[in-house]
Amino acid sequence: MFLTDEAPMRARAIDPAFRHDILDGLSRNPKATPPLWFYDRRGSELFEAITDLPEYYPTRTETALLKAHGPDFAAAVGQGRAVVEFGAGSARKTPHLLRAIVPAAYVPIDISGDFLHASSAALAQAFPDLPVLPLVGDFNRPLDLPAAIEGLPRLGFFPGSTIGNMEPDAAVDLLRAMRRLLGKDAMLLIGMDRIKDRDRLVAAYDDAAGVTAAFNLNLIERINRELEGDLPIDGFAHRAIWNDQKARIEMHLEAVRPLHFHVAGQCFRMDAGETIHTESSHKYGPRDERLLLRAGGWEPVREWTDEGGLFTLVLAEAG
Ligand code: AVI
Repeated sequence: MFLTDEAPMRARAIDPAFRHDILDGLSRNPKATPPLWFYDRRGSELFEAITDLPEYYPTRTETALLKAHGPDFAAAVGQGRAVVEFGAGSARKTPHLLRAIVPAAYVPIDISGDFLHASSAALAQAFPDLPVLPLVGDFNRPLDLPAAIEGLPRLGFFPGSTIGNMEPDAAVDLLRAMRRLLGKDAMLLIGMDRIKDRDRLVAAYDDAAGVTAAFNLNLIERINRELEGDLPIDGFAHRAIWNDQKARIEMHLEAVRPLHFHVAGQCFRMDAGETIHTESSHKYGPRDERLLLRAGGWEPVREWTDEGGLFTLVLAEAG
C-alpha cells in the first residue's frame, strides 16, 4: 500500500515543545510536567466540564461576582478602555464585564487559535458595535498588541485564578510582563482563589464524578498518542493533595504498581507510589493577593469577594 500526503495513516508531526517538556519533566526527581499540556481538545472539553461541577466553586463564584458588581467596575474603571483578556479560552465570563464597562475594543489572547476564533465570533455577534481583535499567542512570551488599540488606555482581564497555576516567581514575572504590555495608566482585573477549608479544596480537585481524574489522566493519553508513548493508563491514579506549607493544591499521577514505559524512544521507570506532579493551584489570603500584585508592579485599588470568602476579584492600577 502506498501512503499519499492525504493518507490517514500519515505520521503526526511531534510538537517539539511538548516533547521537550515531557521528556524533561519525566527525567526530573521528583517527576513534574507543566500544566499547559493538559489542554488538547479533549483536555479543554474536560476543563469546561470541571467548571460546571458542584464541587468546583471558582468559576461559579467568580461569574456571580462579575454579574453582581458591574456598576462598581464601571465606576472604578471608566468607559472607553481596550480590554485585553489573557488566556481567553471560551470567554464565558467576559460578556458580564463588557456589558458593565462599555469598552472601546476587546483583545482576547489565547494560545489555541480554534477556541479563540470561535469564542471571538460569538462575542462579536453579541456586541456588534465593539471591535473584537483576537490575538493568537502565548502571553508568557513577548507579544505585540494590535495597532488599532494604540493610544487607548487598557484594562487587563485575567480571570479564573489562572495566576495560581504558576509558581510565585513565574507569577511575578507574568504580572510584570502584563504591566509592560499594557502600559501607563493601565488597570488589571484579576481573579484569585482564596485559602479555605482543606476538604473543600481537595473535593474541588477530586470530584465525585471523576471528571478531574479524567482531566489529569488525559495527559497520559496525549503523551501516548502524540509522543509515541506506551504508558499504561491503568498504571496511574489521580491524586489531589493540599500542600499547606506552599498553600496550594497539587495534582499528581501516582504509579499504582512499579512501571516501565517509553516516551519518544526514551525509557522511564517509576516505583509504586511514585508520582508525576502535573499541576499546582496556589491559593491566597487577602494579604498574599496584595503582596503578589505589588511585587508584579500593580497597586491594588479595590477588591470584591463573595460572602463565603471563597474567591476574590482584585482591581489594580499600574504602579
Ligand atoms: C485553569 N486553572 C485555574 C484550574 C485550577 O483550578 O487550577 C485548572 C484545574 N485543574 C483542575 N481543576 C481545575
